[in-house]
Amino acid sequence: MKATNSTRAAFVLALAMGSAFVWACSSSSSSDSAANATGAKAFFNSKVFPSLQPTCKGCHQGGERGAPVFIGASAETTYTAIDGFPGLIAVPSISPIVQKGPHSGPALSTDQADLVTQWLKMEADERKLSSDPGQPQNLRAAFKAFGACMDYDRWIALKLDTLAKNTTENNQGQCNSCHNYGMASMWLSVDPVVTFLKLREFPYVQRLVVGSVNNKGEFEGLNFSRRILDKGTEAQQPQSNSHPRYSFPSDLTANLTTFVNETISNLSAGRCQNVTTPDAGLEGGM
Ligand code: HEC
Ligand code: HEC
Repeated sequence: MKATNSTRAAFVLALAMGSAFVWACSSSSSSDSAANATGAKAFFNSKVFPSLQPTCKGCHQGGERGAPVFIGASAETTYTAIDGFPGLIAVPSISPIVQKGPHSGPALSTDQADLVTQWLKMEADERKLSSDPGQPQNLRAAFKAFGACMDYDRWIALKLDTLAKNTTENNQGQCNSCHNYGMASMWLSVDPVVTFLKLREFPYVQRLVVGSVNNKGEFEGLNFSRRILDKGTEAQQPQSNSHPRYSFPSDLTANLTTFVNETISNLSAGRCQNVTTPDAGLEGGM
């Protein structure tokens, strides 16, 4: 979808008035496919590209001196190239375009830096980029990051490798007798390594954490899911297939809660670098 000249003019005017916010609101009703033509990109095309291109193309258009290629012949191709280059479109405080400074090439002039900063702030608003690169932006990414932050040594220390062997009432068996292969998205198998690795992954990881959203409906963060604990004591509806009743020993309940909350807190503080994984060579590890 192409913006007409008059929309474009109206929108450049809105920017000139410093009210990108007005545009952001009015565009929120349009479909995703129109996202291409929204404020940040148009600002890049009309202001940022003409300013950067003459100074940066010497190396960044043809890859001279081993410079990464992110400048094209037109604003469009340049935007596409920059968009496809991981990390360049980010909040100004972490984008290499702003932060690079003098290198084989020159640092940005003050004018260039102002334009790029203004543009990236618009991109960050539109794309809901976080100022903290460590924070996942959506539920899937958060699940993945949570899984990768789960520490196996801690899991073992908290005796969570015994979860699967808990029994249910009326001799209906240990958890693993039914959940050995992940039935009902609950993976609790005889092999503690497999259980741990599976619980790190979607959909099983949802038995450990659930996402929360803010009052605008945007993804906010992860919380401990009580499904594993609550399932065993829920009121059983006579007409549905009734799950066997169970309750975990209280220390195990506490340990599971501790493990999940610790992992959430490590994740948000960026302390996931040194997590241990089962040394079965099943996963690449770090
Ligand atoms: C004389 C050549 C030259 C010019 C002109 C030049 N650069 Fe570079 N640039 C390089 C080289 C070589 C590299 C790769 C080595 C490095 O990272 O320093 C590079 C790397 C970069 C990177 C790092 C990309 C990454 O991998 O994170 C950024 C950002 C960058 N340049 C921005 C610019 C901007 C913006 C301009 C224009 C204001 C510019 N450069 C002009 C040579 C140049
Ligand atoms: C006799 C088989 C059986 C045993 C033993 C069993 N489950 Fe289940 N479980 C099921 C079935 C069937 C479902 C899917 C239907 C349902 O939700 O009731 C299920 C679903 C679940 C769910 C996910 C459903 C939800 O509502 O979130 C959890 C969590 C769960 N089981 C935990 C456990 C735990 C923990 C144990 C061991 C203490 C255990 N189960 C033992 C059969 C079993």
